[in-house]
Amino acid sequence: MKVNNEPYRSIWLNRNGWAADIIDQTRLPHEFVIKSLITMQDAAEAISVMRVRGAPLIGATAAYGLALAMREDASDDNLNSSAGTLLATRPTAVNLRWALARMKPALAKLPVGDRSEKAYAMAAEICDEDVAINHAIGRHALGVIRNLWQQKPAGADAFHILTHCNAGWLATVDWGTALSAIYQAYDDGIPVHVWVDETRPRNQGAALTAWELQSHGIPHDVIVDNAGGHLMQHEQVDMCITGTDRTARNGDVCNKIGTYLKALAAFDNNVPFYVALPGPTIDWQMDDGVKGIPIEQREGSEVTHVPGKNSAGLVESVQITPDGVTACNYAFDVTPARLVTGLFTERGVCEASEAGLLGLYPEQKDTTLK
Ligand code: MRU
Repeated sequence: MKVNNEPYRSIWLNRNGWAADIIDQTRLPHEFVIKSLITMQDAAEAISVMRVRGAPLIGATAAYGLALAMREDASDDNLNSSAGTLLATRPTAVNLRWALARMKPALAKLPVGDRSEKAYAMAAEICDEDVAINHAIGRHALGVIRNLWQQKPAGADAFHILTHCNAGWLATVDWGTALSAIYQAYDDGIPVHVWVDETRPRNQGAALTAWELQSHGIPHDVIVDNAGGHLMQHEQVDMCITGTDRTARNGDVCNKIGTYLKALAAFDNNVPFYVALPGPTIDWQMDDGVKGIPIEQREGSEVTHVPGKNSAGLVESVQITPDGVTACNYAFDVTPARLVTGLFTERGVCEASEAGLLGLYPEQKDTTLK
């Protein structure tokens, strides 16, 4: 995607050939800052504090983190301990585990002297694959969006899509998942308008999705997290599309906290609720998302304090609760498959069910449950 007319991915290899550069998402939308990750610990820190976030980008950053670790010390001990450190950064998005599970055994079987080069090659491959996958997700979703748009009464001036959190190019290496669909619909001439949930407490919608859509010129409005139900009751939402951090084998989807409530409201109002996901976000060993997916709990300070730009143009954080108040901060929730109209994947569109997923990924039929 482009920032001020310059093409960017959300992570890339520095010109020095070994550091990994990222857009520091904790500084957006008010500042555009590039940060170089020069050690494995830098990569782990960037994931933990959410300089990078979004399931696919977390996986890609962990891949470069492992490459940085191998550059420093390619011993078995460091391979194991670095993979462990990276895996512990965030528990919910399964792409992190997927990326490490792909790289670690492949590196372990190589002579120590060959591991660093191979790790960088695998990290680059994971990134390139992610870009192709996300583009394909949007291409498949476009057919569904076009169909729904054509069903609107003649003379309708916009197709209203509600999205939650940020499932845009900033959450992936490029394109995004839910926003890939929206970008491709808009570029295809469908007059898309996006309702952007602000997505408390980290405000990924207000800060990141709005920034992305504004850069692409897509009409949108930021709404408070609780507005979606009201808009759906008044036929102001034609469709919802969100991303997912982990999709269980049965089609349950785990995404940013609040997604479940949007799905309930959509169900009650007959609004199609689609979820866009790349294959690596499916946890084939998890058969019940509601019961099994680990839900990250983050610092209460993310709830009690809000960062923003003050009237002098300076970014600062303010406390919005009384002194001494404690806060509970669940970062994700699980939407049961029965509330999901369909899944957009790189292989096509399917029902949110084991049969639907296996129809597109038949090679996973014999993957055993944990
Ligand atoms: O806590 P975050 O910002 O990492 O959460 C991100 C989301 O919930 C996204 O919707 C999800 O990762 C899908 S992104 C393609």
